[in-house]
Amino acid sequence: MSGSSISDRRSAVAVSQSSSQRLRGAVVGYGFIASRGHFPAYLQRAKKHRDVDIVAVADVCPARRELARRAMPGIRLYPDYRSLLEAEGSALDFVDLCTPPSDHCEIARAALERGLHVLCEKPLAPTVGEASLLLETAAAVRRVIFPCHNYQHAPVVKAIRAILQSGRIGAVRSVTLSTFRNTFARGVPEWRPDWRREKRISGGGIAMDHGSHTLYLAFEWLGGYPTAVTAKMSRLDGDHHDTEDNFNAVLTFPRGLAHAHLSWTAGVRKVLYTLQGELGAITVDDDELELAVADRAAQANAKWTFEKRRVASHWMDASHIHWFESLFEQFKGAIADGAFVGKEARDAYFCVQTICNAYRSAEEGCREVALGTEIGWAERWFPMSRVPIGR
Ligand SMILES: NC(=O)c1ccc[n+]([C@@H]2O[C@H](COP(=O)([O-])OP(=O)(O)OC[C@H]3O[C@@H](n4cnc5c(N)ncnc54)[C@H](O)[C@@H]3O)[C@@H](O)[C@H]2O)c1
Repeated sequence: MSGSSISDRRSAVAVSQSSSQRLRGAVVGYGFIASRGHFPAYLQRAKKHRDVDIVAVADVCPARRELARRAMPGIRLYPDYRSLLEAEGSALDFVDLCTPPSDHCEIARAALERGLHVLCEKPLAPTVGEASLLLETAAAVRRVIFPCHNYQHAPVVKAIRAILQSGRIGAVRSVTLSTFRNTFARGVPEWRPDWRREKRISGGGIAMDHGSHTLYLAFEWLGGYPTAVTAKMSRLDGDHHDTEDNFNAVLTFPRGLAHAHLSWTAGVRKVLYTLQGELGAITVDDDELELAVADRAAQANAKWTFEKRRVASHWMDASHIHWFESLFEQFKGAIADGAFVGKEARDAYFCVQTICNAYRSAEEGCREVALGTEIGWAERWFPMSRVPIGR
């Protein structure tokens, strides 16, 4: 019997089991997002749907392990991912990876190679090489790699999706995405709360930290991946950190343009999104959505109708716990469908590719950097990867 048929049969068994059984998972990194977002969402879900059990946690920080024990008495605790995988690997279905970016690739690959699916916090990895390696590993071992692209699950983003699908504003030709924060997000005090300002741990500043959210939304709204980027970044807060706190980029897409503006030194915490279509526009200011529709395209005398609605999306809650259930459904679906490297994983790869090349552009005096020729192995595995993929 050939090796590939064994691996296919193993995958088929894993897929059919995971669609029908409770998934057993372990969390690696019990910090802010794990303890305030994922963990409580799993507990709610375990009660409501009975389809997931978190049985173990690994965290390098003893104080964080103690907090995990208090949150879920009886949970098994490990000081690092290796000992967790060694002791629990054979009885787990997935690992939920909530450590800072610098460790994502090493830990996710170890879990994948152990035969586990991986839900990975954004960014997938801080370098294109690591992001690429992760997707390649997932494809090779036939296990799901799935990024936490949770902004896709914000109710107001779902409302935008429904309007675009209705065709009411026609094809989108330009989008602007601004994310304002009055400070960088701090990690839990028991570990290194300022790791987002240490490049060796974070891989970069606000673009590496938040840029994925901006980019996968732009990919969706403009129906594809960018072909070029030009960017500028700055440290308005002074030079005592080695990561940027402000970032601006213009991205060229086959269908139009996106402008991304990210700030950790803003006067307010807010997202502002605009989508300009052939027949109308959508403006989102946190929970407020305005839809403008013209009665004819590109005419000075067009008549406009405006609709305003409020779509409660809990933007102020940085744990985004309210969006997790919908995200986890998607992850479960990817496991059930055997979508080992699905659209979300490819989006994650192109997020990392775009961010890293935006850094290159900024470092080289805002030079426009082409993205279209730098796909590497992905084109071999996924020849359609740069073609718009419908949802
Ligand atoms: N999707 C979102 O909306 C969202 C929001 C916040 C954070 N995040 C992401 O979640 C990840 C973690 O961010 P955070 O804010 O929770 O950070 P955090 O500093 O609060 O938590 C990190 C935890 O990981 C532990 N840790 C560090 N290295 C480890 C290792 N090698 N093995 C095991 N444990 C380790 C630390 O002890 C700490 O408990 C980052 O990738 C971040 O970008 C995503």
